[in-house]
Amino acid sequence: MYLKKLELKNYRNYGYLDLNFGKGTILIIGDNGQGKTNLLESIHYISTGKSHRTSSQDELIGWDSDYSVLRSTTGSDKDKNLNNMIEIELRHGNNIKVKVDKVYYRKKTDFTSILPSVIFSPDDLKIVKAGPSNRRNFLDGILDKIYGDFPGTRLQYQKILTQRNSLIKSIRSTADARGNSTLEAWDDNMVKYGARIIRKRLYLMKELRKKIIEYMEYFFISSTVEIFYVFSWDRENLSANNLTENAEEGLEEKFCLKLKKNLSKDLSCKTTTVGPHRDDFVILIDGRDIRSFGSQGQQRAASISLKLGELAALKEKLKKDPVLLLDDVLSELDMERKKMLVKIINNKFQTFITTTNISYLNELDIEFENKFLVKDSKIIAIK
Ligand SMILES: Nc1ncnc2c1ncn2[C@@H]1O[C@H](COP(=O)(O)OP(=O)(O)OP(=O)(O)O)[C@@H](O)[C@H]1O
Ligand SMILES: [Mg+2]
Repeated sequence: MYLKKLELKNYRNYGYLDLNFGKGTILIIGDNGQGKTNLLESIHYISTGKSHRTSSQDELIGWDSDYSVLRSTTGSDKDKNLNNMIEIELRHGNNIKVKVDKVYYRKKTDFTSILPSVIFSPDDLKIVKAGPSNRRNFLDGILDKIYGDFPGTRLQYQKILTQRNSLIKSIRSTADARGNSTLEAWDDNMVKYGARIIRKRLYLMKELRKKIIEYMEYFFISSTVEIFYVFSWDRENLSANNLTENAEEGLEEKFCLKLKKNLSKDLSCKTTTVGPHRDDFVILIDGRDIRSFGSQGQQRAASISLKLGELAALKEKLKKDPVLLLDDVLSELDMERKKMLVKIINNKFQTFITTTNISYLNELDIEFENKFLVKDSKIIAIK
């Protein structure tokens, strides 16, 4: 899939924009603070119904305006006659109206399956370096894109967890907890929905693992890389079994047992200490956790490898080519690895690349289909 046409009205710093794109690689050049990330964010919104940098819809609306419109035409590589028009109107107070091919839709999911995308941003470093929630969000974000029912499963789990946590806070002793039938009901539901989340994550991790190792060992040829899924109840024991076939065996029983085993800990911590909301994954480079021991460049290459893994997983599962949005990520890599990244993605997908600095581009073998300059909240096509 690819984006043919984008029209923005009162979106962030853009009063009005109307741009046409080819299927290949598109360069967006501009100084700091001109609107490069805003442009990629708008494409990401059309693709996913979400901004990659804020959860507040109001922030997307131009400061002097009370509404914003995003309109796009997407095309398919496989079927030339297949065009979709998506129109989104955002208003303050989380108001959203969506039209697909001129028909009104009620839910975001009605347009989020049309144009898959993967955004690479300097913030992705957080997936590797920052806390476990960043890694869980990375996995769950991909699963949201692949399985229409996954966001619902997550929401359900979150609700049950909140209920269990508030019940746990009101129980004084383990003896009181043991006979509590409401707690038993929450535990059963935690296991039911939690195991669904874990199973999907393990399945995805198995797919990603192969790809990430392949990319990392390509970026760092003399290193060996390994990845493990870390269960909340097995943090100390990075068993190699984590991603093998039998990792899922007896999952429900194990989860149920761990909830019971950790009951007194949960009561004293006043929260639920086991479950997918506490899981993580770890990347080892030459046997050491990249989060603590990797160099800045290795961590950056790992975050890019994760995103390339996402790209491969989406392509395979959705049977569509995602659009790539590369927000100033090339400039973060050394020349050799810039070339490697370009070689992996070049000309296979429609790719938007933003940069403040064009000096290194001549050295990279990229054929740009369109070039645009962003300046003073306007975008003009350049040669
Ligand atoms: N809702 C909004 N309305 C109007 N302007 C906004 C809004 N939100 C952000 N801006 C402005 O958009 C400008 C451009 O932001 P953006 O992050 O896209 O720049 P950039 O070109 O990616 O810069 P950099 O190279 O520093 O990453 C910011 O200076 C900010 O003031
Ligand atoms: Mg930016």
